[in-house]
Amino acid sequence: MALTIGVDIGGTKVAAGVVDEDGQIIEHVLRPTPAENPDRVAHTIGDVILELSKGREIEAVGLGAAGFVDETRSIVRFAPNLAWREEPLQKKVSEMVGLPVVVENDANAMAWGEARFGAGRGETHLVCVTVGTGIGGGIVFDGSLYRGRWGMGAELGHMQAVPEGRLCGCGNLGCWEQYASGSALVSEARMIAEAEPDRAVKLLEIAGGTPDQIEGQEVTEAARQGDPAALAAFSSMARWIGQGLADLAAVLDPGCFILGGGVSRAADLWIDETREFYNTHLSGRGHRPLAEIRRAELGAAAGVVGAADLARVR
Ligand code: BGC
Ligand code: NA
Ligand code: ZN
Repeated sequence: MALTIGVDIGGTKVAAGVVDEDGQIIEHVLRPTPAENPDRVAHTIGDVILELSKGREIEAVGLGAAGFVDETRSIVRFAPNLAWREEPLQKKVSEMVGLPVVVENDANAMAWGEARFGAGRGETHLVCVTVGTGIGGGIVFDGSLYRGRWGMGAELGHMQAVPEGRLCGCGNLGCWEQYASGSALVSEARMIAEAEPDRAVKLLEIAGGTPDQIEGQEVTEAARQGDPAALAAFSSMARWIGQGLADLAAVLDPGCFILGGGVSRAADLWIDETREFYNTHLSGRGHRPLAEIRRAELGAAAGVVGAADLARVR
């Protein structure tokens, strides 16, 4: 059975796997991302591919990268939350490993993985939103991955939701990912803990005392223990996501939405509120079907499986 390798390159870790035609991961490795150094990132990617391909016949490699990838699937032109600028990732990595390599946007890869093998199986029209450091998006349109004219379609996190709003890593103000991502969740929790420490007693205790010590994990833990500030931060994020999905439905009318990314692991804390907000803010509601809002099924593997599948020649 023909094998490909998928690599998911995030801000903190590089995950890679050998994947078969059924989307099964046969072997898997995980490395820390050497932050902020594109050359070292490329070398880490090359190393994991060489390690995984030892003694195997590999057809091709797919890389999922958190940034704006060009239409030739070669160059990461820009990454709002990472150091890549006009990064020739395809060339660097293919020279290292001697295999055909394609570069995909990380969220496009996850969307494809979920569409083929996960929560989106059988759907011809779906939108995947990954909630992590940033917000990633992937659109499957009429059964195909939608890339746009220049490869940069589905950069959903950079829809400008708030005029003159918070500064985004992309340079604009008010992008959706500044309100609805994991980073936004943490900022919101810190803000509440700073302004109203009485509502954040548990959260502050868990975090170690001061608002700046609060990270995502602490917000989740405090929310599970009923901390009002942590719950309010989740609630804010949940509604922002519901709002964005309603806007996306106005444009795309998908059959379902899939929510993935690190923050979706705690989806039980917020997804109902997202559904509620979506259902009550969708334009034309009452006169159209409500797209289901589902949790991703493949978890952290979606990016690896999707990138590997997109590398296959079809
Ligand atoms: C980037 C996207 C990426 C997403 C999730 C956004 O900030 O612009 O390219 O898919 O983060 O990693
Ligand atoms: Na995308
Ligand atoms: Zn932005």
